[in-house]
Amino acid sequence: MKLARPIFLFVLCFAAILVAQSRRSYGPGRVWWEADRGVVFPLQEDYDDADGLVSILSSSGAVNPAGHAFFEALGSNHRACITCHQPSNAMSLAAATLRERWVETEGQDPVFAAVDGSNCPDLPQPAMASHSLLLNRGLIRIFLPWPPKAVPDFKLEVVRDPTGCNSSPVYGLHSPHPTISVYRRPRMAANFKYAPQLNLMADGREPSLESQAVTATLVHEEAQANPTDAQLHQIVDFEMQLFAAQSADDRGGLLTEKRGPAALGPDNLAAGRAQRFSGEIAAPSSFGLWNKPDAADVQLAFRASAARGSELFADRCATCHAAGSTRAMDIGTTNQLYAINTADLPLFRITCDADGRVIYSQDPGRALITGKCSDVGAIVMQQLRGLAARAPYFSNGSAGTLKDVVDFYDRRYAIGYSERQKQDLINFLRSL
Ligand code: HEC
Ligand code: HEC
Repeated sequence: MKLARPIFLFVLCFAAILVAQSRRSYGPGRVWWEADRGVVFPLQEDYDDADGLVSILSSSGAVNPAGHAFFEALGSNHRACITCHQPSNAMSLAAATLRERWVETEGQDPVFAAVDGSNCPDLPQPAMASHSLLLNRGLIRIFLPWPPKAVPDFKLEVVRDPTGCNSSPVYGLHSPHPTISVYRRPRMAANFKYAPQLNLMADGREPSLESQAVTATLVHEEAQANPTDAQLHQIVDFEMQLFAAQSADDRGGLLTEKRGPAALGPDNLAAGRAQRFSGEIAAPSSFGLWNKPDAADVQLAFRASAARGSELFADRCATCHAAGSTRAMDIGTTNQLYAINTADLPLFRITCDADGRVIYSQDPGRALITGKCSDVGAIVMQQLRGLAARAPYFSNGSAGTLKDVVDFYDRRYAIGYSERQKQDLINFLRSL
């Protein structure tokens, strides 16, 4: 009897683990999480995305969303954090999902709220055209006081104002509360555990997850008061244990096999074996397992290509996208001449006081906070996880596909990638 009891307990534990494992469901398709949905947020869920499956791992266990500040609408517009940080979109938002949501709800979903889910609050809200930046590029209006607290060392003028918001007498630069509007992609609210939570947002204006959550509640959710300390803890604790990454690829197969590259999948992120930035993602050692030069079948060929892509990434891309990097840099995504030439985004003319240099920018980025001409167009690097689930890319949504991203770099730095090299990089990126 003395021995039987521990054995019994052991068997029980083992059975419990098996049950927990079998509860990991696969590919429920696209599932929109609305605020106060009342469905348990599971330990792990895998969602269909453009290239396979993206997995969301709530590493400390399933979460009951009732009374949970990440899931409940804290303000007046029925939005919660989850509204713009959707699990099926790798805790960000894909433009394609937003278009489907518009059709399903005839534009009534709280995500389309006038405040920042439309091109400008004073536009006729039922019209689809008033939400074109959100629907076409997945962009949320970010509005900031102008000038900022730091006295700017440059002059800023509006050259093009397709949304009308920057010249609006109520919301614009010359309104009673002078404000600048730029349009940005939601960033992933996951994979924070091993990363420094500094320089959050495209312009690095939030120094911590706590400060970010306060602002998000007041601005995106239009709350009248700050969240309570208990609510802040709930939000930050949830974000700190949440991991999101691609877990299967239509051509590459399961990306999270036991003996697969340690750089992939949410479990490796949760265990600290992989990071949300690149550094070791790019280490050829991790992808070496996939290096099969003469791979014939589709899956092996994809994997060999991604392995070559990891080496190209280590060569050219990891210098900036290094582990832990939250640097803001101007790589030309929002500044001319390299930014896409498009009439749907605002355009500002910036003249530096020091030397009279003129810069045309769609989003001055970090300079909106520091007031420094040298920061115009500097954007804080994003993490490169769950990319397949959350197109388009770059802070202004200017790259519709990963091909557009790679083409941008090829042009920008005159690299001269061959078509095969481009595809290798794309295959690498889509498996992250
Ligand atoms: C209306 C959509 C919307 C809602 C609602 C929303 N966010 Fe966001 N979130 C965004 C956008 C857009 C950005 C990027 C803003 C920028 O770059 O200036 C962002 C950025 C973030 C980031 C920064 C990630 C990084 O790496 O820089 C975190 C964390 C985050 N949100 C958490 C939250 C939390 C917590 C809530 C609820 C209190 C919330 N968000 C509600 C749209 C939203
Ligand atoms: C000189 C520094 C630098 C180099 C080199 C660089 N990047 Fe970037 N990368 C950035 C910055 C800064 C951003 C943010 C720009 C933005 O969002 O507008 C970025 C953004 C991205 C994004 C968008 C992520 C998202 O969530 O939208 C991808 C993908 C990306 N880089 C991949 C690459 C690849 C692939 C290479 C190599 C070919 C590369 N980067 C080389 C600095 C760099």
